[in-house]
Amino acid sequence: MTSREIRERFLKFFEKRGHAIVPSASLVPENDPSVLFTTAGMQPLVPYLLGAPHPKGKRLVNVQKCVRTGDIEEIGDNTHATFFEMLGNWSLGDPASPDGIGGASYFKEDAIKWSYEFLTSKEEGLGLDPKRLYVTVFEGDDPSTPLSLRTGPSTTLRTGAPRDNESAEIWKSLGVPAHRIYYLPATKNWWSPGDNGPCGPDSEMFYDLTEKGLGDMTHEEYLAADERQDVVEIWNDVFMEYEKKDGKVIGKLSQKNVDTGAGLERLAMVLQKKNNVFDTDLFNSIIQYIKEYSKEYKEQSVRIIADHIRTSVFLVADGVFPSNKEQGYILRRLIRRAAIRAQQIGLTPSHLNAIALMYGEQYKDIYPAVFNATGDENQIIIELRKFQKTLIEGLKKFEKGTDPFILATTYGFPIELTEELAREKGIVIDREKFDQEMKMHQNLSRRGAGEKFKGGLADTSEKTVMLHTCTHLMLAGLRKYLGGHVHQAGSNITVERTRFDFTHNEKVPREILDKVEAYVNEAIMKGCAVTIEQMPKADAQARGVEGSFWEKYPDVVNVYMVKAADGTTYSQELCGGPHVENTGVIKGAFKITKEEASSAGVRRIKAVLE
Ligand code: SER
Repeated sequence: MTSREIRERFLKFFEKRGHAIVPSASLVPENDPSVLFTTAGMQPLVPYLLGAPHPKGKRLVNVQKCVRTGDIEEIGDNTHATFFEMLGNWSLGDPASPDGIGGASYFKEDAIKWSYEFLTSKEEGLGLDPKRLYVTVFEGDDPSTPLSLRTGPSTTLRTGAPRDNESAEIWKSLGVPAHRIYYLPATKNWWSPGDNGPCGPDSEMFYDLTEKGLGDMTHEEYLAADERQDVVEIWNDVFMEYEKKDGKVIGKLSQKNVDTGAGLERLAMVLQKKNNVFDTDLFNSIIQYIKEYSKEYKEQSVRIIADHIRTSVFLVADGVFPSNKEQGYILRRLIRRAAIRAQQIGLTPSHLNAIALMYGEQYKDIYPAVFNATGDENQIIIELRKFQKTLIEGLKKFEKGTDPFILATTYGFPIELTEELAREKGIVIDREKFDQEMKMHQNLSRRGAGEKFKGGLADTSEKTVMLHTCTHLMLAGLRKYLGGHVHQAGSNITVERTRFDFTHNEKVPREILDKVEAYVNEAIMKGCAVTIEQMPKADAQARGVEGSFWEKYPDVVNVYMVKAADGTTYSQELCGGPHVENTGVIKGAFKITKEEASSAGVRRIKAVLE
């Protein structure tokens, strides 16, 4: 069964049982700054699990895009991927049970029964072999659960919730033998998204991947099989009726929810009879391509490349671009990690870009944004090209010595990558030292930028500050009327005038100078707000912020924006300040008094406020 068919069958199965199909939310959480990415299907639904009414009702089904980079070191094993799709069916405290089972509510009984039915039914579901199924339930840690039955270490989360005999009974009623139902502690069978939010005991389904079949297993044998990945988790039913606050379970929610999650990649692996996700139809054409073009075969590298480029493509599709901060930094790490692995097995940035395009094609009709994100000049190839310039040199440098500071600042190696490469050589990186060095470096370059600027500004009297803001507007005007090749080549401002050098090859006609003047005066007339925004340098570049000497600026830059109330942006430029707070305070009319050659390819303007 193809992954496409699994998705379709899942949605249809639950739609038939009264669930409304909801589209996947973005990988970048919309209203939750506490996490970088959507890591589970339940995340975008948290408000509804807590009781807010969902516009589509109380019974939902979805396929949610998820990214988990906490597992990044595990990529290359059989079952982990940084991006995956999670199939989920949901009861948001749904009181009704449409087919009469259990009657009272859509909670444990319906959830477990439908999971089992979907997994095993040949007609409507996946037709998996019930004899290969094992399930786990929560062992309980409340006072009524005898200590002899609690296996969890005493230091872990105490939920105060009872043993989930109810779920075990439901499994038994469906035909799962009692000895294939394992009771496990909260470390295994309690699900919560973090220290705060809805949570609850869960019941997990595992499938036997071995050729011969494992048959009946004792508790210990089962744990060992899990460890060996002879059985893999394919589905998790969480019974979310509790709430966690600051890491403690504080009591019950006002409603009983069902949150189920089944990983598409793993289901595909099981159904396609593979022992790892990379051999499924979700990856195999990509893996083939990598194998065909790489000079040296390294399973681990092949998988990392296939995984990371796929995740990158999905992140770009959801609006993330490579930067030095937050989501952008993770994306940069993924792309650069793939680039290093590619370099090691003889693949080039063009190969990696081809892989990105293949993913675009593969997911085109399910996630059109992924296809759109893999156009000609996409963020991935831009980042790859940028990194390629220093990658080979950086790797050579690394072979000679592993100074992470030099590798980060001169060669663009994310610290985590250097750490990883070093680990492979048995070297440990002093992370604390690195962090300190980086901090100092950033402070110095910030100060450097400030001092450099003072050279241009003779003094910071009111008049020079006004002329400084005008100079920004003038540069924006010059670029507007002469073209994007125009950049600052030098500047000197006194109380009398601004003198400004810029890159341009020929004399600027007076009518253009008039237009530039008018542009500046219009911004003055409109009383535009002048604001500073701090952003990663790469973000600023991608946004088309104007600046020269980019390489001299720190990783996080100050961008001065001049924007009118009507939304027109008159200027956005990299700068250390100072500027007026609003162009409305600028006294006089801006006038360009002189335009002449300065040096080869550079023109000079003098301008005043009259
Ligand atoms: N929230 C649970 C999980 O992520 C089930 O969807 O496993």
